[in-house]
Amino acid sequence: MIKHVSCIFLIVLFFSCNSSEKTEKKVTIVDGAERYDVYQGSEMAILMRGMHAFNLELKKEVQSGTITTEFPEEFLKIHTAEFSEAKSRNKTFDHYSGQFIEAQKLVFAEDSIVPLSERYNTAINLCITCHQTECTGPIPKIKKLLIK
Ligand code: HEC
Repeated sequence: MIKHVSCIFLIVLFFSCNSSEKTEKKVTIVDGAERYDVYQGSEMAILMRGMHAFNLELKKEVQSGTITTEFPEEFLKIHTAEFSEAKSRNKTFDHYSGQFIEAQKLVFAEDSIVPLSERYNTAINLCITCHQTECTGPIPKIKKLLIK
């Protein structure tokens, strides 16, 4: 008689702002034949990943010339979300997060005379500007969001 065996492996990779890609604290759960990748992180890190995923989709829309989405109110959590250990909210962060939110909203402004792709790149460049101040690891990943 074969007994159903399910095993769970936890693989935790290093996590920090200092290196790219591999930096995510990744927990891989293997349950029988199923494999789940679970990413853990602070509220801010989770929000950031959401912002990255959203802009990856938005990039395609901007390139096709029509936007079907709206500014995600969820992004406003950047003003309150909790950080990972060793990081905290400071004046520089608040300054750049304000600028970023304004720029991201402008991507959805219907009455703008500035070309859509330019407004989109302005928002992404503000992700990069803030990251240059204290969290350089994800920069290569963020740069891929830019429309060349
Ligand atoms: C105002 C500064 C600021 C802006 C703007 C900003 N980030 Fe971040 N980002 C951070 C900080 C600080 C962290 C680290 C958060 C933590 O570890 O709690 C971070 C973390 C990340 C991470 C790593 C998340 C993880 O898994 O640990 C990614 C990816 C990221 N940001 C992408 C983006 C993208 C894409 C944008 C723009 C759409 C953006 N960020 C805008 C400051 C910023």
